[in-house]
Amino acid sequence: MKKVPFENNRRSFLKKCGLSTIPLLLPASAMNAMTLTESNSNKLYSNKTPVNFIFDGLAMSPNDYLIKLQEINKTKAIETDFYGKGGVVKLLEEKFAMLTGKEKAIYLPSGTMANQLAVKLLNGNKTKVIVPENAHIFRDEADAAQSVHNKRLIPVGKGKAFFNLMDLENTIDYLNKNEVFKSGLGTIVIENPVRRADGSIVPLETIKEIAAYCKQKDYKMHLDGARIHIASAYSKVSLLEYASYFDTVYISLYKYLHAAGGAILCGEAKLIDQISHQIKILGGTVFQNWHNAAVALHYLEKIDEIWEKTISASIKLMDSLKQISGVNLESLTNGTNIYNLQLSENINSKKLAAYLYNEYNIWMGGANGAGVVKFTINESILTRDIEEIIKAWEHGIKKARD
Ligand SMILES: Cc1ncc(COP(=O)(O)O)c(C=O)c1O
Repeated sequence: MKKVPFENNRRSFLKKCGLSTIPLLLPASAMNAMTLTESNSNKLYSNKTPVNFIFDGLAMSPNDYLIKLQEINKTKAIETDFYGKGGVVKLLEEKFAMLTGKEKAIYLPSGTMANQLAVKLLNGNKTKVIVPENAHIFRDEADAAQSVHNKRLIPVGKGKAFFNLMDLENTIDYLNKNEVFKSGLGTIVIENPVRRADGSIVPLETIKEIAAYCKQKDYKMHLDGARIHIASAYSKVSLLEYASYFDTVYISLYKYLHAAGGAILCGEAKLIDQISHQIKILGGTVFQNWHNAAVALHYLEKIDEIWEKTISASIKLMDSLKQISGVNLESLTNGTNIYNLQLSENINSKKLAAYLYNEYNIWMGGANGAGVVKFTINESILTRDIEEIIKAWEHGIKKARD
């Protein structure tokens, strides 16, 4: 088995998977702890879908993606769109409007654009938008609200997974008392589940309280529901119910719906009808989008069933992993599909990760500074017999004991 230096090694692994920028996005740089060989040495598994305990979904390679598109096209010929209008894009928009109970839905090239345009249009001439301090819209959208849309984002809930009604009221009171020029608060944003809190859920009661208050004060509400299907799968609160508390809802097409990219924004017709003009202004109008829409629609149709099966398989898997001496797996408060995995000191997590990758094409993330691996469950566990995955971990841990 030819070993290559770590950096080259990691790069070639990521390149092979088409994931060369992923470590930048991962909370604890999931690849850090891996010492990998140039390719999986076990041919039995190298052509199979990787079982990954790292990503938001299947981590499909270009080849997997093309095969999936062909499968979808064979079942029912995919109809093209024209600049995002018609064909399978229209079918996807109709399906999302139905699932969220909103009048309309529209396809956008990215979730960042969906979030930004939603708050811009909901806010109208008002400038202030309240956002969670740990949210993507506040920390990861390059200050687009301030620099492009003339909106001022005001963060709430620093140091917490989510803000509650009291945090919100205190912030609004403070602004009212301490600002001379009343330029107006228009919109409150909630992200659910919360990416920077390891996918934990904002409790339904908290959302209800905030929504009732906003209704009374005439503030609009936007949901960054990039991964809302995961919140629904674990909380058993339907997408329809979550959406009912918000004026606009954004959902990602590439997190758990496995498209190569894209986003959906749902809301009242009078707002959604303004979006395509705004997309054009921002240079985001793309000639054809059917390849994203077809894949997202395919997975959307079975998402509830897929997650019921995924959760039940994951319970079996984790119950078995917990039986192995030195393995500790813990759920998080209000948690969803991300768990804290800790290995005892005599188990070398780098050796384990390398073994699982080389022998079984199973991907495990690296430990953070506190020695915790964020162990992420996704439907890739359904692509193999669960007993086989358990056996792989048992073998791996045996090999990785010092
Ligand atoms: C919670 C959340 N909102 C919005 C986005 C933005 O999505 P996009 O990459 O499509 O712009 C992301 C992407 O990681 C996200 O995690």
